[in-house]
Amino acid sequence: MAYENIILEREEKLAVLYINRPKAMNALNKDTLLEIKDAVTAVNEDPAVELLIITGSGDKSFVAGADIAFMQNLSAMEAREFGALGQKVFRLIEAVEKPVIAAVNGFALGGGCELAMCCDFRIAASNAKFGQPEVGLGITPGFGGTQRLPRLVGPGMAKQLLYTADVINADEAFRIGLVNKVVQPEELLPEVKKIAGRILSKGQLAVRLSKAAANEGMQTDIDRAMSIEADAFGLCFATQDQKEGMTAFLEKRKANFISK
Ligand code: CAA
Repeated sequence: MAYENIILEREEKLAVLYINRPKAMNALNKDTLLEIKDAVTAVNEDPAVELLIITGSGDKSFVAGADIAFMQNLSAMEAREFGALGQKVFRLIEAVEKPVIAAVNGFALGGGCELAMCCDFRIAASNAKFGQPEVGLGITPGFGGTQRLPRLVGPGMAKQLLYTADVINADEAFRIGLVNKVVQPEELLPEVKKIAGRILSKGQLAVRLSKAAANEGMQTDIDRAMSIEADAFGLCFATQDQKEGMTAFLEKRKANFISK
């Protein structure tokens, strides 16, 4: 598929997906969502890629939301379909077997905040702005915001943000736990790549099993969640990475993981 609204770059084991609609602050229309879906599927299936970074092109906007011009005249059924498409694509991102990091480089509003939230975690540039401004447009969030925001920052803070449509800056997003770190804009991608490098130096099967256990466990009761963890832990002992990791520790050397 040829991309017009996104750019997918490969750097060794990393893939970087840029949302790239400069004229609309990287807002998401249907075509952009379909391109993201295609790119994320390709990344998930490519054994050479071990980690995905999602960011916005330019220095002003990560994603300024779903495309308001695109949505303006949708019927209820068309809007439901558009919302369901966004939800599906963002669930796909959440379920990518490899780590996915959002590098939030500016406005992350509405669908943009929702895109950042379906990633495993978020690092923000100091000029980033977060919010769910939908009620100001007379709509609810539609790409998972009513569900992921309470899970990430707690129901009280989430409801205040959802009801007021307040836009918060990067420091406030850090304070409430929406982002893990705030850095200067020019440091954003280098910092995210540094974190990626630390992840990539570890056993990738164990990283992926940790992701799957955390994701699945959060959707279920604690006893079932512990059983998911026990299965993941046991499975690690069928891998070369476990043998290498423990042998390297005992031999006082750096592990050389091969993701097998
Ligand atoms: N959809 C469509 N176009 C958008 C857009 C969006 N979400 N956000 C910005 N744009 C367009 C503007 O219309 C403008 O286009 P023109 O140059 O053709 O007029 C261009 O991008 C630049 O925007 P501004 O001139 O507004 O730039 P600014 O720096 O003054 O403001 C901004 C930036 C604060 C992000 C402002 O554009 C804004 O508030 N955007 C809308 C944010 C929003 O409400 N997002 C939620 C959308 S609803 C949603 O996402 C629902 C859901 O959950 C699925």
